[in-house]
Amino acid sequence: MASTAAPTGDLLRTRDAIAMPGGGRPAVEARAARSDVYRIHVTRAEAETVERVAGLIGDSDVAIVTDDVVMDLHGTMFVAGLEERLGRVPEVAVMPAGEGSKSLDQATRLWHWLAAGRLGRRDVLVTFGGGVVNDLGGWVASGYMRGMRYVNVPTTLVGQVDAGIGGKLAVNHRSAKNLIGGFHQPAGVVSNIAYLRTLDGRHVRAGIAETVKKALIASPEYWAFIESHADALLAGDEDALERLVVAAGAIKAELIARDPYEHDSRRTLGFGHALAHPLETVTGYGPILHGEAVAFGMAVEARMALARGLLPRSTFARIITLLRRLSLPTTTAELPVPVDGRELLAATEKVRLARGGSLRWVLPLGLGDTVIADDVAGEELAAALRRSGVTVPG
Ligand SMILES: NC(=O)c1ccc[n+]([C@@H]2O[C@H](COP(=O)([O-])OP(=O)(O)OC[C@H]3O[C@@H](n4cnc5c(N)ncnc54)[C@H](O)[C@@H]3O)[C@@H](O)[C@H]2O)c1
Ligand SMILES: [Zn+2]
Repeated sequence: MASTAAPTGDLLRTRDAIAMPGGGRPAVEARAARSDVYRIHVTRAEAETVERVAGLIGDSDVAIVTDDVVMDLHGTMFVAGLEERLGRVPEVAVMPAGEGSKSLDQATRLWHWLAAGRLGRRDVLVTFGGGVVNDLGGWVASGYMRGMRYVNVPTTLVGQVDAGIGGKLAVNHRSAKNLIGGFHQPAGVVSNIAYLRTLDGRHVRAGIAETVKKALIASPEYWAFIESHADALLAGDEDALERLVVAAGAIKAELIARDPYEHDSRRTLGFGHALAHPLETVTGYGPILHGEAVAFGMAVEARMALARGLLPRSTFARIITLLRRLSLPTTTAELPVPVDGRELLAATEKVRLARGGSLRWVLPLGLGDTVIADDVAGEELAAALRRSGVTVPG
């Protein structure tokens, strides 16, 4: 074919002629639409876990972030399997287990570690662990070289039903939970139910708390499933757990697709969290598990909804009954450490100010039915806290 252009061979050529803005248009609009699509795989087999992760890595180099507990229990097998499948030795960083590792210091350490290694922007970071590792590893991946790919392999129920999905990432600050973070979606999520066999009952219940949250805000069908399978879930029945994890992924994916970067003020996924986060902050991140704090926060919001006459007493009773059956805390008596009401109110107030003066409380009206209230006044909160066992100064 005849062409007047000079031959460029294999070189990738771009011809452009962007016009200068005309007079009278001082404001220029910049757009940056972005759409991320990724799969959430759920399996019970180690071989499939490795195969799925390897498929996401492809020809790239890989580094794995994990914690010491997970490394001892499952990491050695996973790393060896991946190494054999890829024919390359992954770089591995192991940090201390626990919420304390979700810190800026730990993130900085990982950035130094990545910079000293061989990984580049097109390579892949695998987060192999619970919500702490998923949140921290994803946040580090999002910042490294302005964003490298990462794959979540959540090993706790909290990770599999919640933290591993959605690309919402952060580290804690001593003044507030998840204060420093951002959004960066994973390239894929691979959840292996068999990893949950080594998880203790308390962490299983904390994971179920996040599924109760999803059920209450978005799916009466899921709620009925949790109610009717509560005993099986607590007993570690893998059929029940698998259905719980698969449905959690589907429900969270649907909610996130509607509002991936939380522009919408109807953030029902925050149910239970307006109080859970300050509760974790004032108790020093760790003594109360995140899922336990969420259960307590949901109970407090249910009490607010009941007091406002928004929630029928029968549904309120159903909510509290399910949380109690799951041995999740609904009053301070069931929390593992005492809570100072004055400090809790101060920490809640600090989050309110940081959020531009209003906190979004999610008040349940029924199953799958909620309203957002940003007008919860001090005395209303204090009253709900008192009914939850917190000693609040009058
Ligand atoms: N990004 C999100 O959307 C989102 C959602 C929910 C929770 N989170 C965050 O997740 C964190 C809580 O997650 P978590 O409860 O998984 O905490 P975690 O990561 O600290 O894990 C809990 C404990 O279980 C251990 N563990 C992990 N896998 C195990 C296994 N298979 N067997 C035995 N022990 C195992 C860990 O070493 C740790 O000691 C919080 O920081 C919370 O804010 C984030
Ligand atoms: Zn949560």
